[in-house]
Amino acid sequence: MYQASIIGTGSYVPEWVLTNYHLEKMVDTSDQWIIERTGIRERRIASGQETNVTMGAIALERAIKDSGIHVEEIECLVVGTNTTEPVWPSAGGHMAKLLDLQRDLPFFDVQAGCTGFNYALFIAETLVKSGQYRTVAVVGTDKLSSITDYQDRNTCVLFGDGAGAVILRQSEREGIIRSHLGGNAKLRDLLTLSKKSSTGNGYIKMEGRKVYTFAKRAMVQSCLRVLDPSGTADHKELRLLFEQVNKIIPHQANARIIMGAAEELESRLELPDGKAREKMIITIEQYGNNSCASIPLALDLSLRSGKLKRGDLVILVGFGAGLTYAANLIRL
Ligand code: COA
Repeated sequence: MYQASIIGTGSYVPEWVLTNYHLEKMVDTSDQWIIERTGIRERRIASGQETNVTMGAIALERAIKDSGIHVEEIECLVVGTNTTEPVWPSAGGHMAKLLDLQRDLPFFDVQAGCTGFNYALFIAETLVKSGQYRTVAVVGTDKLSSITDYQDRNTCVLFGDGAGAVILRQSEREGIIRSHLGGNAKLRDLLTLSKKSSTGNGYIKMEGRKVYTFAKRAMVQSCLRVLDPSGTADHKELRLLFEQVNKIIPHQANARIIMGAAEELESRLELPDGKAREKMIITIEQYGNNSCASIPLALDLSLRSGKLKRGDLVILVGFGAGLTYAANLIRL
């Protein structure tokens, strides 16, 4: 079996910044409430011309440049997204056309709520490890502002837009070590689209508290299962595995969910206070929850800022509508 390494990353966020102060003028909320309950100060919102496709294409172009490969070398494109307009045909096809990728390139979208990038990365991992393709591009992109009701304070303070991408390549060295995918369809109705909206797309409708509880539990479970796929390690063995992890990039939905999951890991693994919390990478303050973009965006920003470096052992862990959850264990 081959290995599949990330050889380049890229990201894009729109220019327009929607701050908590703007939101105070739109709905009955306050900067203080939003920061205390979510950790978010601002988020980026796409312009009328920008879509998940245009944002994803820029992120992918940057990832291609970062990896030093030629665009022609990409043999397959997998896109995690939820907000393609019109929904058919796929965002992957639009992106491949925009970037002039090779003519016989297979491309497709993965719709798994905010877990879309983790699922897409798992699919790309298996395509490369099986020897099917040598170089696969993976994009996570969403324009959640197109399905957000800016009169609903329960949801509009949370969401933003953006895109991130990685290039996976067959290699000799360790890369994506393994992934864990989960889902609980019985909880589907906790996070859905309402029927009516001005654009006709529907708006996100959410039972926030229940999603919060699910998210914390799902992230803990997925982090542990990706480290111990057979589920047979005792807590001491799990702690040793966990201690080798340099950083965790969680889906950026709420800083309290992230810290709550970290505290739960500390308690389950009997780690000293703060030992899991210090591994968590948080970018939510500036970008909010931009769905499939949140993890690849945080990955790209962290590599650029030096928070992460090649050789680090990292867990990417997400959750989202479906309800779905997943983690990828990666040697950068
Ligand atoms: N400003 C001020 N008050 C707000 C508010 C806002 N933007 N949004 C909700 N409230 C109010 C609620 O109406 C409620 O008021 P009530 O007690 O009078 O009914 C009160 O704040 C507490 O609401 P609650 O839902 O218990 O707050 P919370 O601490 O759970 O925080 C969320 C709400 C949405 C931030 C939180 O539940 C959350 O992050 N959930 C997960 C969401 C998520 O991740 N979704 C995407 C998944 S990919």
